[in-house]
This record gives sequence, C-alpha cells and structure tokens, in this order.
Amino acid sequence: MDLKKKNVIWFLFFLLNSILLIIWGTLIFWLTKSHIIWNPLTFLLSFIPILFLIIIPLYFFIKSIVKLAKNFKIQERLTISKKYLIASFFITFLVWSLSILAFVLYFFPNAQLYNYDDGPYLLWNDDPKTTMTIIWHTKNPTESVLDFGESIGDMETFRVSVLEKRHVAKLRNLKAGTLYHYKITDFSTVIYNFTTAPSAITPFNFTAISDTHAGLDPSEYGAVTDAMTPYQYDFIIHAGDLGPYVGEELDGWHVFFNHMERHASTSPYMVAIGNHEYGVDIFARNFKYFFPYSYVEDWGHYYSFDYSNAHFVMIDVFQNQLDWGGFLLEAQEAWLRQDLALNKDKWLFVVLHAPPYSTGDFNMHEKLATQLAPIFYENQVDVVLSGHDHHYEAFWTNRTESWGGTYFFVTGGGGDLDEFIMHRNRDPWKRLWHNASIEAYQNDYITRNYQIYGELTHHFMHFELNGNNLHIKAIRDNGSLIQEFFITK
Ligand SMILES: [Fe+2]
Ligand SMILES: [Fe+2]
Repeated sequence: MDLKKKNVIWFLFFLLNSILLIIWGTLIFWLTKSHIIWNPLTFLLSFIPILFLIIIPLYFFIKSIVKLAKNFKIQERLTISKKYLIASFFITFLVWSLSILAFVLYFFPNAQLYNYDDGPYLLWNDDPKTTMTIIWHTKNPTESVLDFGESIGDMETFRVSVLEKRHVAKLRNLKAGTLYHYKITDFSTVIYNFTTAPSAITPFNFTAISDTHAGLDPSEYGAVTDAMTPYQYDFIIHAGDLGPYVGEELDGWHVFFNHMERHASTSPYMVAIGNHEYGVDIFARNFKYFFPYSYVEDWGHYYSFDYSNAHFVMIDVFQNQLDWGGFLLEAQEAWLRQDLALNKDKWLFVVLHAPPYSTGDFNMHEKLATQLAPIFYENQVDVVLSGHDHHYEAFWTNRTESWGGTYFFVTGGGGDLDEFIMHRNRDPWKRLWHNASIEAYQNDYITRNYQIYGELTHHFMHFELNGNNLHIKAIRDNGSLIQEFFITK
C-alpha cells in the first residue's frame, strides 16, 4: 500500500477514535449521573460495550499516534503527503476543543453568566412559617441591599457587601402568619409584600399552573397570569416547563422571569421540575441556580413543604435521564414513601411534571402510574397535579373509598397548547404513535373508569382549603369556569 493511502487510513482511524472516545465519555458521564438500578442484564448491556469502547479506541488511538509520528519522520525524508497530517491536526484540534468545551459546559453551568436585571421572586427552601427567600438578579455584580419589615414606614436595611449577580436573601426567624414588606434599594422603587405561613390550621388558597412555556408566545402565559389576578392565593404551584428552552438558554429564563415576577414577587413560587428545566444539562444546574429549593439530593430535584393543614410533595420525574418520565429511582421512591408516611397534615398534594394519567399528546405514563398509584393509594393522596401535556384534564381514582380517592389533574395549559394531535378531527385525545394493538387510550380501563373531563384550553387551577373542605376550580384564561369540585373529608 502506498504511503498516501496509509495516511488516509490512519487519518480516518484517528478521527473515528476521537469520536468513539467522545461517545464513550458521554455515555460514562450519563450512566454515572443516572445511577440506574443495576441488575446483571443492565450491567452486561451497559458495560460490555463500554469496555469495548474503552479498550478498542485506546489501542488504536495509541497506535495511530505512533504511526503518525513515524510517518512524520519518514515524511521529512521521503516528502509524503503533508496535507493529511495538517488536516488530521485540524480535525483533532476541532474534536478535542469541542470535547473540552462540552466538558466545561457540563461542569460549569452557564447561569453564572446570566446578564439581566430580573426579579424579585419568592420561594421557600425552609419552613414557610418562619422563613422566606427573596431572589433577584442584576446585570452587573452589586451588593445585596434589602429593606424589610412589618411596616412600610419602619423597614430595616440589610446589606451584604459582596458583589454578586444573583442575590439570594433568606429571611429567617419571621413571625408566622404575618404580613411583611420589602424593597430592594438600588434595584427598584417598588415596595412588595408577602405573608408567612400560619402557625395554626388556617384557611388558605393557592393557584396551580404548568407548562407556561414563556417565550413561545408570551401573550398566552400573560393571559393566564391576568386571569389569575382577581383570585387570592398564598403561593403558586408550578408543575414544570417554565419556558421553552430554559434549561441552558439564558434568554429563555429572562422571558420567563419577565412574566412571573408580577405574581412571584408577592407569592412564593414552588416548582416541580419539568423536562424543559433540564434542557441539555443532565444536572439541571441552571434550574437549581434560579430555584434553590431544599432538594433532598444533589442530583434529584425533589422536596416537600407544609402549609397550614396541607403537605406538598414536589417530585422530579426526570432524575433518571435514561427513561424520561418513566419512573422514580429507588432513592426518590424511598424518600417519597417515607415523606408521605411521616405526614401528619390532613391534605396531601403531589406535584410531578409527567402525568401518570392523561389522554393528551404524551398520554399515560404507565410505568409512572404503576409505580406511584399504589403509593398514592396507601397514603391517601388527595390531589396529584401534572402538566407536560398541554391541556386540562381531570381523573378521579378510588372514588368509592371512604377517604375520597385521588384526583389527578393535567394542568398543562399555562401558556402553550397542544395543537398537534388533539386538534385532529379524527381520534382527538389519542396519541398518534400509540400502539393500536393494545387499544386506544380513550377507551381503556383508566379512561373509562377514572376520566372526568378534558379540554384543550389555556387555564390555571385555584384551590381553597378551609379545614375539612377543599374547593377546586379549573379556570380558563378568559376567567370562565371549566369545572369545580367540592371535597369534604
Ligand atoms: Fe410542556
Ligand atoms: Fe414537559
């Protein structure tokens, strides 16, 4: 074989090896993050190819380097094709610099580069009775200066003399059930207020939205927000998908904040992570940067909180990146069981982005339903809130049980609607790629027995809790009522 041909072959080898190494690195990284439940089969399926991907490229990689070096020496004497060496150098340079860039992006999330003035918004990452976390972002690093107090005329100034772009003020030792005012000097002249959670069982309200997808069409999210305005609510539950590409797209976060600030500056915003908060970052670090809740795990974005006589569990259905929306990993399931078992509150709400039951575009998440429905049943969960499918739908399971059964709501009409399948005249409410051999979902057992109603409409939900009574409303963006439920227990 002439030397020119050899050069081509080694060059291609070199390129292939680099690509294989990148695939291998990504796979290892993904598997580590996913900490999937290992059994002999998954072990064999995952590690045998990985071993091949390590050993084979490593062998050829070293060999090709040696060959190239040798050729280079020969080349000086025999004037062999320099262009292949130059081309392989450039391609190698490109491949490796892209790998390094990917590595940097993986290990250093870009939210630190966030370049907008946004906020303030509220959330709880501790006891809602005695704490409140206020967050705002500044384009340039500034000191954090916050005035706050029970009376507008007598606010105390707190200053953190560290220059930051993300300002997280966690107020502690607050009085329960108390109205506080706050102002962020040097940022805005507006005086905002919030109320801490009550110490005793007290009537309260909250709203629930999902899939606001701010940025796809900002006016749609705005219309839902406007419809929420006449309603009183103590906090907001969001079942995920805040913006279209918020995971790693910083501009998307800005669009989202622009819309959420007007209600989240006075009402804590409690989010259950959606797929769009992950984006391409399997750690969802930007979401964590913007929403530092008290997560149970470093790599699992789930948490719970109490308000009056209700307990709220916020699940991360995408922790297992190999099976989005498929099921909860062992640790999260164990935590969920324990968290629900320890609960002493009368009302139980679970929020998770992917709906166990739905007849929308994504349809039922059967594995999720199989895993969670028995847990919800055992612990008598009252309401499960989801999104992901962009419509409104209500299911009611175990309705003959004395404790009242569980309501499952898909409340994904917060800003974007599923226009694709659900608008079809034929077979609406049916997934296009659903396997017809196991029956269409709109006629299956779950739909026949549990479904109450569904509608493709922009909407939000409002919950009024008063001791033993729960009043649920689903409200369209024009303010009209989709349906309401009165539950007593
Ligand atoms: Fe969505
Ligand atoms: Fe989603």
